[in-house]
Amino acid sequence: MKSKLLILDDDEAILQLLAAVFEDDDMEIILETDSESAVNRVVSEHPNVAILDICVPKKSGLEVLREIKQIDPGLSVIMTTGYRTTQNAIEAMKHGAYEYLTKPFDIEKLKDVVQKALECNLLNRKVRYAELSDQISDAELEEDIMIGSCPQMIQIWKMVGKIADSDASVLIQGASGTGKELLARAIYNNSKRADKTFLAVNCAALPETLLESELFGHEKGAFTDAHCRRIGKFEQCDGGTIFLDEIGEMSLSNQGKLLRVLENQEFERVGGNETIKVNVRVIAATNFSLMKAVNEKKFRLDLFYRLRVVSFYLPPLRERLEDLPLLADLFVKKYSRQYDKRIKGLSPGALDLLQKQPWEGNVRELKNIINSATLFCKGDILLPEDFESLLQVKPGFKVTEINVQRSGDEYFKAFCSLLEPVFSEICEKENGSVYDTISAGLEKALIHLALIRSNYNQVTTAKLLGISRNTLRDRLERYKISSTE
Ligand SMILES: Nc1ncnc2c1ncn2[C@@H]1O[C@H](COP(=O)(O)OP(=O)(O)OP(=O)(O)O)[C@@H](O)[C@H]1O
Ligand SMILES: [Mg+2]
Repeated sequence: MKSKLLILDDDEAILQLLAAVFEDDDMEIILETDSESAVNRVVSEHPNVAILDICVPKKSGLEVLREIKQIDPGLSVIMTTGYRTTQNAIEAMKHGAYEYLTKPFDIEKLKDVVQKALECNLLNRKVRYAELSDQISDAELEEDIMIGSCPQMIQIWKMVGKIADSDASVLIQGASGTGKELLARAIYNNSKRADKTFLAVNCAALPETLLESELFGHEKGAFTDAHCRRIGKFEQCDGGTIFLDEIGEMSLSNQGKLLRVLENQEFERVGGNETIKVNVRVIAATNFSLMKAVNEKKFRLDLFYRLRVVSFYLPPLRERLEDLPLLADLFVKKYSRQYDKRIKGLSPGALDLLQKQPWEGNVRELKNIINSATLFCKGDILLPEDFESLLQVKPGFKVTEINVQRSGDEYFKAFCSLLEPVFSEICEKENGSVYDTISAGLEKALIHLALIRSNYNQVTTAKLLGISRNTLRDRLERYKISSTE
């Protein structure tokens, strides 16, 4: 199918000029002098790229930009104007324009920008970026896709497009729950290594020596428990991509070994002399500033530079609230399907309530809240009431040094406010087994959350929960929880 280019300008002469410029390119060209018809053409024709003049009668080009970005957030839009005002340029970029050009056109530059805008659009469609969530298929709902259409995310998609195919190391920084692992997978999925292995290792989940043998392997007899040779993740992943999560927690000695892999693609197994050569792309992530760790001499500066060949920063959710409706809609669809419900979406009031939250846990927190709200929702639209008790719970869980009491009073209040709205329903449904069902649910939830937090490492999970490993194994079996993600 041919790509489509929509051009809106009230000056017929410019339309003809641009039509001639792009005539030889393998694109279908749609010309419009009327702003309203241009919006309609986006609905009916799904163009890949649009060139919009800012000064057109009826709706201004900026209004058209806003409207068409709502219809198709993935469309690459180039704004043009005869007047050089920075405000227009800022407005245009703020509303997600791909580029802003002034007239008279430098034709070569325009052609180049259109080509890049087209590549960006095709890539965005490929990374299944922020389309209207109606267009998200069932399979995609199951496999955790990454979406977003705010200007910061668009910059991220553009960068992914530029660097995915290279072998450059990547560093992803961002607070917990902002989507670092998902972004790492999006880079991998769009790289030429997509058909090779992707392995994720959490550098904070293992003590120094265990992490060393996890990454680089060990020889038989290298240490007391080394009964046989073990092939490490770098060797398992030869030709593929390794995702090193929480890289800031890596010890200085392991950092040295990693630097050597990055520089020379070689290392030795623990206790071995043979030099192993591998070809692995490294994507690392951290939820605190690595530069700060460098200043505190906890992280090597040379490794920091080596990792940061390409660097991404995922902003907290509260700095990209315009993406919240899109994300919320995606999660409602996902959980509605999972719980076999027919929930159509969120009411404006519910959305408004969500927009006002601080979202310290970022997208993960939003996802979890929508999960619970969907589960308990009785109707086919999520209302503010469906969220109120869940959101009220938060102060109860705000653990400050003063209110963490061994007696669990704070948690008691929080659970009361969580259970109270649904308690009669539970009593009716579970008559005679309320105690067992609810405590089992709570125990299962605790184990589930602790596993996620410990990156599915059973030793760390048991330690975190303060239970023995045997008890943990028993509960995993009893509740049929898988201890791998
Ligand atoms: N842009 C997004 N679109 C859809 N889902 C998202 C997006 N960002 C994050 N999520 C979801 O939020 C959850 C957290 O994402 P992820 O695990 O990638 O975050 P993280 O930054 O690695 O967090 P942590 O630092 O705690 O490991 C996941 O369930 C993920 O699917
Ligand atoms: Mg993560």
